Amino acid sequence: MSITYKDEEGIRGMRVAGRLAAELLDYLTPHVKVGVTTNEIDKLAYDYITEVQGAIPAPLNYQPPGYTPYPKSICTSINHQVCHGIPNDKPLRKADIVNIDVTVIKDGWHGDSSRMFIAGEGSIAAKRLCAMTYEAMWHGIVMVKPGVRLGDIGWTIQKFAESNGFSVVREFCGHGIGKGFHEEPQVLHYGKPGTLEELKPGMTFTIEPMINLGRRDIKEMSDGWTIVTKDHSLSAQWEHTILVTETGYEVLTVSKASPPPPPFVNTLAHA
Ligand code: MF3
Ligand code: CO
Ligand code: CO
Repeated sequence: MSITYKDEEGIRGMRVAGRLAAELLDYLTPHVKVGVTTNEIDKLAYDYITEVQGAIPAPLNYQPPGYTPYPKSICTSINHQVCHGIPNDKPLRKADIVNIDVTVIKDGWHGDSSRMFIAGEGSIAAKRLCAMTYEAMWHGIVMVKPGVRLGDIGWTIQKFAESNGFSVVREFCGHGIGKGFHEEPQVLHYGKPGTLEELKPGMTFTIEPMINLGRRDIKEMSDGWTIVTKDHSLSAQWEHTILVTETGYEVLTVSKASPPPPPFVNTLAHA
């Protein structure tokens, strides 16, 4: 499969799917608190996607080559879990940092987004990691415009994260998205300026950096899905689905309540 460029109809479909992913995260937000289990959040998500949004949870039974079918509707990655954490019956504890990653399919189009949450009051280090990872994602997003290369985006994210003392996970990356959940190209969160694919209008892809407080090394758990940091240091991730426009970018996974961009983002530049 090669890169798919979306026409007006595809862009309309991707906007709807993106908004639904963001609205689902808005809906889940008040439920992410001490004592709630990630299975309870998963059930809320499944019911909301299928009954309210008339959509499909893309992760449920998703099975890339070499994997077992993913058993839940969302991913919930806690503390040292980097990504693809499987919801379970353990209640959230005070100061847990939680990534909730949702992907909905509406009329065949995918919207993919994730946010960080902290159960109760978090440590200063945890709050800083979550905030800096959000900024890292946005440093990548503001680079997006025709002519820029994927290596420029990866390098920007890596430079920001590492200069603040964090590390960037290498084994997982953002991805093209559309009628397919994971399309080409791969969107690395590290790299070299001036390398890799050149961005063109109509491309849609995710930017979803995984940033660790400690070393970048990861390992896979025996459930075949959950990825954790080898040194058990905290890991954070944020994700948006982005459209390359004629002049820059449009964030597709937005809703009324989605967190505002950090102050360094000039929202007028791309209006
Ligand atoms: N939503 C994840 C991503 O951002 C993919 C999860 S695959 C799953 O690409 F099967 F674990 F859900
Ligand atoms: Co995702
Ligand atoms: Co993704």
